Amino acid sequence: MTVKVPPLKCQGIKTRLTEWIKDHSTLENDGTWFEPFLGSGVVGFNVQPRRAIFADVNPHIINFYNAIREGKVTAGIAKEFLEHEGQNLESRGEGHYYEVRERFNEDFRPLDFLFLNRACFNGVMRFNKKGKYNVPFGHKPHRFSKAYVTKIANQIRYVSQAVSQYDWAFVCSDFRKVIPAAAENDFVYCDPPYLGRHVDYFNSWGEQEEQELYDLLSATAARFILSTWHSNRYRSNPAIEKYTYRFTILTREHFYHVGAKERNRNSMLEAIVLNYSPLPPIALGTEEQLALMETSQPQYVLYSTPSAG
Ligand SMILES: C[S@@+](CC[C@H](N)C(=O)[O-])C[C@H]1O[C@@H](n2cnc3c(N)ncnc32)[C@H](O)[C@@H]1O
Repeated sequence: MTVKVPPLKCQGIKTRLTEWIKDHSTLENDGTWFEPFLGSGVVGFNVQPRRAIFADVNPHIINFYNAIREGKVTAGIAKEFLEHEGQNLESRGEGHYYEVRERFNEDFRPLDFLFLNRACFNGVMRFNKKGKYNVPFGHKPHRFSKAYVTKIANQIRYVSQAVSQYDWAFVCSDFRKVIPAAAENDFVYCDPPYLGRHVDYFNSWGEQEEQELYDLLSATAARFILSTWHSNRYRSNPAIEKYTYRFTILTREHFYHVGAKERNRNSMLEAIVLNYSPLPPIALGTEEQLALMETSQPQYVLYSTPSAG
């Protein structure tokens, strides 16, 4: 499967795990796909459900995709805009980036958001305590080459086509309101911020949110997949032990590159938590799990821990 990359980037983007997540999701034909932590949208956009509720608390993500849905942002409009702003960036350098950032923080226009998202440092989305975008310049004044602009325009074209073909809604909302709306035939895919990783206006995540999320997922009649992390070489995710005893867990090794050097490849065992069994469960003891984690090849580990009494 060739994963369609969306026009927005965000931290924790699941591009490299999309196929794995999609392969394990089971949406009924008449059901709705609920994705309460949309981010870039890469997972849901590749699943291509007929009906979907895509939600996020970040209004700028939702505005951007609604602008595509309403035809206010098209591949052609974005191409023209990025060519123009790209030329300004090339001739005026980082000053232009900060000018657009100021402009965006005044009127929050979707095309400025796209420009900043693609010109900023590391493709992250970060907002300060006042809700203002505050990511610094990515130090690439020649960022918007012809090929790069065409690539982004094609990513927008893909979303435009999908929203005209399918019944997709983009809603700015909190997960606490979105998850309870899912019914038995629906499917919920959750990818919340990882606990304690980011402190950001739209992305803060603590014990309280984690607890509420697991409570809502435990109560839902829909099937769900929750993305989370299982362990790295230093520690395991305590939430896996604390909350997931009733669910199925699949893990997969994933390498994060920090810089270009081989020794900077940080291995992380990513997990998906499911409230159904996609395959006959294999009971694995802790030692076997650890042995699997120590191998260098990508691994699938499936286990179900004893149900709570
Ligand atoms: C890890 S990102 C999702 C990444 C996405 N799956 C992707 O591949 O691009 C988490 C998202 O959850 C959103 N978020 C954080 N807190 C939220 C909340 N309380 N309710 C809904 N969305 C929230 C953030 O704005 C962010 O976009």
